[in-house]
This record gives sequence, C-alpha cells and structure tokens, in this order.
Amino acid sequence: MSILTPETINVTLSERSYPVWIGRGLLDDPTRWRTTLRGRHALVISNSTVAPLYLDRVACGLDGLQWSSFLLEDGEAHKTFANVGRALDALSRLGATRDACVIALGGGVVGDLAGFTAACWMRGIDFIQMPTTLLSMVDSSVGGKTGVNLPAGKNLVGAFHQPRAVVADIGSLDSLPAREYRAGLAEVIKGAAIGDAGFFAWLEQHADALALRDETTLIQAIATKVRYKAGVVARDETEQGERALLNLGHTFGHALETAGHYTTLLHGEGVAIGMLLAARLSERLGMSAVADTLRLEQLLKTTGLPTDVPSGFEPEQLLALMRLDKKNIAGTLCLILWRGLGRAEIVSGVNEADVLAVLHEATGST
Ligand code: NAD
Ligand code: GLY
Repeated sequence: MSILTPETINVTLSERSYPVWIGRGLLDDPTRWRTTLRGRHALVISNSTVAPLYLDRVACGLDGLQWSSFLLEDGEAHKTFANVGRALDALSRLGATRDACVIALGGGVVGDLAGFTAACWMRGIDFIQMPTTLLSMVDSSVGGKTGVNLPAGKNLVGAFHQPRAVVADIGSLDSLPAREYRAGLAEVIKGAAIGDAGFFAWLEQHADALALRDETTLIQAIATKVRYKAGVVARDETEQGERALLNLGHTFGHALETAGHYTTLLHGEGVAIGMLLAARLSERLGMSAVADTLRLEQLLKTTGLPTDVPSGFEPEQLLALMRLDKKNIAGTLCLILWRGLGRAEIVSGVNEADVLAVLHEATGST
C-alpha cells in the first residue's frame, strides 16, 4: 500500500510537544509512531468493536517489544474506575517499567480511559492516541484531557496528561457508522463556530463533500480543527481561561445527554443541539444576530445533525441538570455563549429565566 505523507500538526508545549499525524494508512505504517516508543513494553487498550478491526495492524508495528492488549466492552458505561484498575493490572502483569507506553486504539471512550491509565501507572508513563472515530480525531485525542466517569457524573475524575503522538488514520473511518461520523462533524463545526468564521464559511461551502466523506475535504477539515485546538491547548493547557471556550454548547448538550440517559443522543449530537440553544440564548441576550443562528442551524442540518430537542424533554429538568455543570460558580450559571460566528465568550451569572425561556421555546412548551 502506498502511504501519502500525512498532514502533521504540532501541539506545542515545550518539552512535552507532540505531533498529530493525519492521513490514510498510518496504522499500517509504524515508521513514524514506533519512534515515539522509548522502552520495551507496550499495552494496547482498545474495545470489543475496534480491536477485531484494527488491532492486528497495530500489532505488526510492535514487533520485538513485550506487549499485550486490554479490551473494554463497547460503550460509555465502561469508562469507569473499575476498568482503569483492570488496565493497571494488565500493565502490572506485563511487568511494565517507567519507560512503557500505553497505546489507545479507539474512540474517545478508549482514549480517555487509556490516557488516564497512563497518567496513573508509576505516576505517569507515555501514551499514544490512535483515534478511530471522527470525534476523537478532531477533539478528544488532542489536548491531554483524560479521565473516567463516576456514577455521580461524566468525566468527574481525571488528569491532564498529554500523549506523545496522535496517529489519526482516516482509513479507520471507513468502518465508522454514519451516525457516529456525523457526531464527529459536530465537533468540527463547533471549532469553527467558536474561533474561525472563515473556516465556518469553508464548511458551509464543503458541507456536501463532507457528508459524502470526500477524502481530501475531510483531511482538510480535520487538520483545520486540530490546528485550531492545538493553538488553544498551547495557550491554555489546563483550562484556566480560553480553553473553556471549547465547551460551547456543552452545558446544554450534557443536560440533554443526561436527560436521555446517554442512549437517546450521542455526545456530538448533544453538542449540536446545545450549540444551537447557546446561540439562541446569546441572541436573546443581545450578544449575537439571528442571521448567525440561522447559518449555524442550516450547517448542522446540511450535515445531517439533529437541531431539535427530542420530544419528552422537560425544560425544568434540563435546567436542573445544567445547574450541576462543572463551570458554574457560587450557585450561578456559567455558560459559553457567542457574539456571532467565530467569537465565543465565557459568561457567568446567566439569568435562569432566560435559559428557561429558550428551553421552553425549543421544546414547544411556551
Ligand atoms: P466512542 O469512543 O464510544 O466511539 C463511538 C462508537 O464507535 C463506539 O461504539 C465504538 O466502539 C465505535 N467505533 C470506534 N471506532 C470505530 C471504527 N473505526 N469503526 C467502527 N466503529 C468504531 O465515542 P466517541 O464519540 O469517539 O467519544 C466520546 C467520548 O469522548 C466520551 O466519553 C466523551 O466524554 C469523550 N470526549 C473527551 C474529550 C477530551 O478532550 N478528552 C473531548 C470530547 C469527548
Ligand atoms: N473538549 C474540550 C477540551 O479538550 O478542552
């Protein structure tokens, strides 16, 4: 197989800087990622869906190392502390030393758990992200947020732990179900909506090509989103300020995901509807124009993403869930709102009556 030179984007964090490689066939070509392995041990963490499809390819690149694999069952429900414990046991059985490497092969669930496992073993060892969903290529594999869920809530436990490299083989997207692919597009659109009006216009022009998974267009979209995120992470690695903007639509989105017991909506779908609700709230607060909201809604629709709150969701229940968001301070709502395409803003002390009005309108219960 001929492998074209991948797009390379660097996440610049002084001695912890790392490359994000984006291209087709990268899993089959270990020449790049193998150089980032420093020791003799590797643990590949994957899941029961992805491993049968891609583990063999990664294994070919691990020749000469002592390595094993640890497989999760598929699904968000398995991103747990108990499974981190099991993965750490697998490192222990392998006899992994401090120069060992964890390889995360899968979507965001696998990446978050594997990264957290690497952060914990011997107080932190290397890990490589090999994202296999669009969402994990453009978002979760970049930036070093790792962690797991608790029964009390999503992503409540974790660590900032940057990977040594990100290997985004877009060939792996060939097997990704259409709905998961579209959910990843929501995270691409989010990056443009937050910080790059020019990229948003480009997405509008290329929405049909993206929906059809045109390879050149897709690589360009992934690379642009990753470049944008890498810049934010380089400026604000641990979310003291600017990085919080990446959560546009997340407060509404998490409430929708939780209200749907994580089965009604995928994360990216929650983000899509959440961004639109945040846009409508911004418009209501006089921060943005209706024309921007309409462009966002149209782009989400063109790419096949949901824009309506699913039926049966109650505004008061959604508001109660939004009150539990990690960003809230001193009992008041803190949301990421926007001033139109490409300009997001952190707003604290948001009036609950305004949020409720937007939710009533969206659920048709006004
Ligand atoms: P996921 O990991 O659950 O993957 C989605 C589905 O696709 C799963 O069923 C998976 O097995 C399957 N799959 C993965 N790759 C495949 C492939 N190539 N072919 C066929 N099927 C494949 O979900 P996701 O959307 O990738 O990630 C969501 C997770 O990411 C959530 O836990 C979320 O909290 C987390 N997240 C983390 C960050 C971060 O910065 N760390 C950012 C965004 C989201
Ligand atoms: N997905 C948000 C972040 O990485 O900060």
